[in-house]
Amino acid sequence: MQLALAPLQTYTDYHFRNAHLAVFKGVDKFYAPYLKMNNDGTIKNAPKIDILPKNNPQIAVIPQLMACGEEEFFIMADYIESLGYKELNWNMGCPYPMVTNRNLGAGILNKPSEIFELFDHIFPKLKMGLGIKMRMGLENTSEILEILPRLNDYPLTEIIIHARYAKQLYNGPCDHERFQECISLTKHPLTYNGDIESKEDFDELQIKFKGINHWMIGRGAMKNPSLFEEIQFGTVDSGEVYRNKLTLFSQHIITSLLECNPDKGYALSKMKSYWEYLSEGLSDGKQLYRKLKKAKSISDFSELLFETL
Ligand SMILES: Cc1cc2nc3c(=O)[nH]c(=O)nc-3n(C[C@H](O)[C@H](O)[C@H](O)COP(=O)(O)O)c2cc1C
Repeated sequence: MQLALAPLQTYTDYHFRNAHLAVFKGVDKFYAPYLKMNNDGTIKNAPKIDILPKNNPQIAVIPQLMACGEEEFFIMADYIESLGYKELNWNMGCPYPMVTNRNLGAGILNKPSEIFELFDHIFPKLKMGLGIKMRMGLENTSEILEILPRLNDYPLTEIIIHARYAKQLYNGPCDHERFQECISLTKHPLTYNGDIESKEDFDELQIKFKGINHWMIGRGAMKNPSLFEEIQFGTVDSGEVYRNKLTLFSQHIITSLLECNPDKGYALSKMKSYWEYLSEGLSDGKQLYRKLKKAKSISDFSELLFETL
């Protein structure tokens, strides 16, 4: 079985990934949030820095990109390859209209012929492995039924399915029946993704989707970074042990943030955003987050956090 940490833009960046590796166990694969182009034809800086090998010294990261054409695909793929990576992932899942209206992310899922035309051009020139992470459709989950069988013609490394359609955004249930149908339609290694928030959720899905060995977890791991250990090893830390780990985890992240950008305001705003999720996994998390949000400096934030944990 293989468990992956999902890419969550601005959250599962290298500060988070490295701290996770240092403190928690159980993640087999880390995916970096997507690279994207600026309007001037250059690649956006933050995700470029996020995948630099020096920022990921011990982690086998799979970088991701979001593209709607061959030219921009190769600008980003060439950059990724120049850093020494052997595999990349194509984001066909981002659901936001600002993105999908431009044929980016999940915006291409209701136009299968455009996907295959792009792949026909890209695969003959591509020297790296390419996997995709996709929703089941843009407007509804049946769109994937047309796409998956045709994807068998291409040498994809894997297909990761977030079991919703894009117009749902993150609302409403995942469509497990449709995912079940998908299993028989693809010959590629298939990963299930969506709403795994506890070991119980995972156990239920594992019974439902026999034969699925690859799983990806995003928000559940942001709320409870020890979820991978709980699933892989069946261990659950006592409250105190878990809180000690959260302290260590937060210390790692703060050190990394300050090394990357000595502007303490940057570290403060980043810590507030990680803790918006992390606080959800604690019984006293709501009160804690309310106080953390008001911290005016990273030292106030740390003092309050470490006193409470
Ligand atoms: C804040 C946020 C940022 C995300 N960023 C990305 C991203 O950069 N690339 C991507 O493929 N998916 C992204 N996703 C989707 C997640 O990777 C994942 O597919 C989704 O959250 C469902 O899995 P989960 O229920 O385990 O969180 C993002 C989701 C959220 C909530």
